[in-house]
Parts: sequence; structure tokens; C-alpha cells
Amino acid sequence: MITTLVDNNSGIMSIELINEENFENDSDKALLEIAGFSIKEESFALLHEKKRLCIPIKERNSETVRVAITTAIKTLLPTKYEAAFFAPENADEAYTAAITAHLVAYSFTRYKSEPKSVTFNTLSILNSDESFEHVINEAFIVAQSVNYTRDLVNTTPYDITPDALAMVAQELAKQSTLLSCNIYNEEALVHEKMMSMHAVGRGSINKPRLIHMSYIPKNPRKKVTLVGKGLTYDSGGLSLKPSTSMVTMKMDKAGACSVLGVVKAAAAMQLDIEINAFIGAAENMPSANAYKPDDVLTSRSGKTIEVRNTDAEGRLVLADVLTFAQDTAKEADYIFDYATLTGACMVALGQYTIGVMGHSDALKQEIATAATDCGELVGTLPFNKHLKKLLKSDIADISNIGSKPYGGAITAALFLDHFITDEMKEKWLHFDIAGVAYNESSWDVNPVGATGASVRTTLQWLKNL
Ligand code: BES
Ligand code: ZN
Ligand code: ZN
Repeated sequence: MITTLVDNNSGIMSIELINEENFENDSDKALLEIAGFSIKEESFALLHEKKRLCIPIKERNSETVRVAITTAIKTLLPTKYEAAFFAPENADEAYTAAITAHLVAYSFTRYKSEPKSVTFNTLSILNSDESFEHVINEAFIVAQSVNYTRDLVNTTPYDITPDALAMVAQELAKQSTLLSCNIYNEEALVHEKMMSMHAVGRGSINKPRLIHMSYIPKNPRKKVTLVGKGLTYDSGGLSLKPSTSMVTMKMDKAGACSVLGVVKAAAAMQLDIEINAFIGAAENMPSANAYKPDDVLTSRSGKTIEVRNTDAEGRLVLADVLTFAQDTAKEADYIFDYATLTGACMVALGQYTIGVMGHSDALKQEIATAATDCGELVGTLPFNKHLKKLLKSDIADISNIGSKPYGGAITAALFLDHFITDEMKEKWLHFDIAGVAYNESSWDVNPVGATGASVRTTLQWLKNL
């Protein structure tokens, strides 16, 4: 998809957002009604002869503009129109329209021998005196990064193993001289005493990798650490998943891929914020060498962990990567982790909402604001001391699953909390993207498959910082 700034409509299909008042005065009112347009419903009408695509809108804000442009692009993609025109009322609308077009037009075709050909390829945006050039460029960078994340998540576990993910990060680092990438192999994990993460990756022939990327601009105002769960496949390990739950588990690397997307955009936007990104890449497989329920693992922090379920592997990886990240990127102002961590988060919040957990209400509020600004949904889940007790272990310092079946998203986050130092508690947030990272049916700007969830919100927050 191309978004381009123009000075006039030049006779192409025009995307029009019509409110009640416009509708009453519209010279095509009767025609619109025949075509199914209704101001009260989520409808639209395409008047081919008039080159008008009319979408009803109650009040005009970034949310309703996004919904309207989504409808417009979805309507035009299967047609033989090449381009459409949209006149934003301000820079926010120009940004929203551009990013929405890029996100809705996304499709993943890597494994199709004959990808569907699409004619519609351009959204022409009416420029204003203030010039929308900057916002259009930024929308392009953010959308490209979301789509990059989607591509990675959609790629199969055969093509993205932990080592392949490390190579992806290494390639990404070549995009800017301000980026660098360090990769730690299996021996290095042992050397770094990361035996919790090591155990998760042990059962697979595709050995685990720890990836450290950094983006270091000239005079950074803030330092942010991002940590991603990169399970390139989660079969459940010896606590094997049922076959229907296993399908889609290539998405268990989505947290890692979101982190890579954020780093990519930060570098392209030349943000003046230092980012240290740490990814725990591993494949969770049953085998003769796999870790077992009943094992006790010694994490990098020194805390011992009783394994009661090998399918609760993400927290075991993150425990060590969070410790390593805090040891390595000292003086970080914030530390955020991203993970498709629990099915329970989906039960709690539904499939459309990112679960955000942490100790700082102010920080959670900042993320909620950023999410609202960019059109993602976040919900916060509260910690409490009773759930915390459910992680007690008789044999080790802590158990990798809660002893009761409820509140699983929160107990998972409370497990991670054990690996956050006192100094970082208020600076830490955990993003559970299990529900939103991957779709079996499309919604909003998201197609079937990977969504790139959390990339937009994080970038929006970084911009506001
Ligand atoms: N990767 C899964 C979580 C998940 C589930 C992501 C569904 C996306 C969709 C995670 O490793 C897992 O298996 N968690 C278990 C934890 C349980 C064993 C305590 C879960 O949620 O069932
Ligand atoms: Zn699992
Ligand atoms: Zn998992």
C-alpha cells in the first residue's frame, strides 16, 4: 500500500465520512439510501458512477476515523480501483488514515504459490497548509514495523527456529549504525547461569538463543529495557498440549517479534531514547533430553524453581532473561516484558485486549492512554497477596504454576515479579499478549493470523515519553 499526499481529488474514488447533517443535505441522499447507506448503522455505500464511497460517522475522532478507513480499505481491496482519495481534517486524522490503510492492506503470502493479485494500492491523502508529510512518514514507519512483526509471527516454526530468530535480529541491526546485536548460544547460557531458560530449550534439536539488541542514539533522554518471550514453538513439552491447542503455537514468539518491531521503528524514527532489547528464544519440545515436571531448576538469580508443568515454560525463560536484562542494562528507567504467556489472560479479558500488569498505577495509566491514542485495547489485572501465595513450593523457592486454577494471568505475572529487583519494581510492566497476538478471524485493522499487537502502543508511549 502506498499513501501519498495530493493537492486535489483528481477525479478518483473519494472516501467520505458522512454525519447526520451532511447526509440530510447530500445531493445523492436518495441514491445513498437505495445503496444501503444508513446513518444509524455500521453501513456504507459505494456509488460507482459518482466515485463516492460514503461511510456514516456519528462524531469524528481518531477512533471513528480508523473504523471508517478500515471499512473503506476492506471494501476497495477486492475491487479493480487502483486508488482512493481521503481529505483529513487535521494531522491526527491524516496519521490515522495512513496507518490504517497500511495495516488493513497487509497480507501474508510467503507460502502461497499464487498469491491473489490486488489492484487497489494507493490512498491519496489531501495535504493541508501545515503539510502532513511528517505524519505520513511516521505512519509508514510504524505500520511497516507492525507488519514486520506480523510477518515474523506468521512464519512457520520450521523457518524460524531460535537460531533463525537470532539471525533476523542480526539482519535488523544492519539497518542503522545505532543498532547492535549480541547473540548467546547454548554454552553461553550455561556460562551465564541461565539454567531455567536453558532447561526449556533443552529438549529440542533447535537450541536456544539469547538475543541482546541495543539502539543507542547520541544523547538519549531515557533508557528503556524491553524483554520478549521468543518461543519459536510451544508444544507444551512433556506436559504436551492437546493437538487442537498446539495449532497456532508458532505465535508463541510474538512477544519477541513485537520487541523487534519496536526496535526497528525506534531506529527508523531516530527516537532519542536508548533501547536495550532482550529476547529469550527457545523451542519447547518433548524428547529424551527434555526437562520434566518434578525437576527443580536453578535460575540465574539463584532462586530455585519447581517445575510442575512444562507448558508453563514462558515464565521460566523470562525469569532468566529479566534477570540478565537487569544485570546488563543497568540504570534503565523502565523495563517492559511482552509475552504470549497465558490462556488465562484470554479468559479474563477476551481476545481483543492486551493484559497489562505491574506495581505502578501511574505507569499502567500511561500505557492505557497510549493504547487509546493508537487504537489498541489494554486492560489491567490487579496483583494481590493471596494469589501470590499460590506459587509456594514445598521443595523449591517457588513453583512454576499456581496451586489453584483461577487467576492464571496474574499468578504468571507474580511469578515474573520474583525476578524483578526491588529497585525496578515500580519501573516494570508485563504485557500478556496471548489473546491478541494471533487471530483465527479478522477484526478491526487485524487480518487472520498475526496482529503485531503491542507494537503501536509501545511506540506511542515511547513518543509521549
Ligand atoms: N504459550 C502458552 C500460552 C498461550 C495459550 C498463548 C493460548 C496463546 C494462546 C503458555 O506457554 C502456556 O501454555 N501457558 C499455560 C500455563 C498453564 C500450564 C499454567 C496455559 O495458559 O494454559
Ligand atoms: Zn506453554
Ligand atoms: Zn508458551
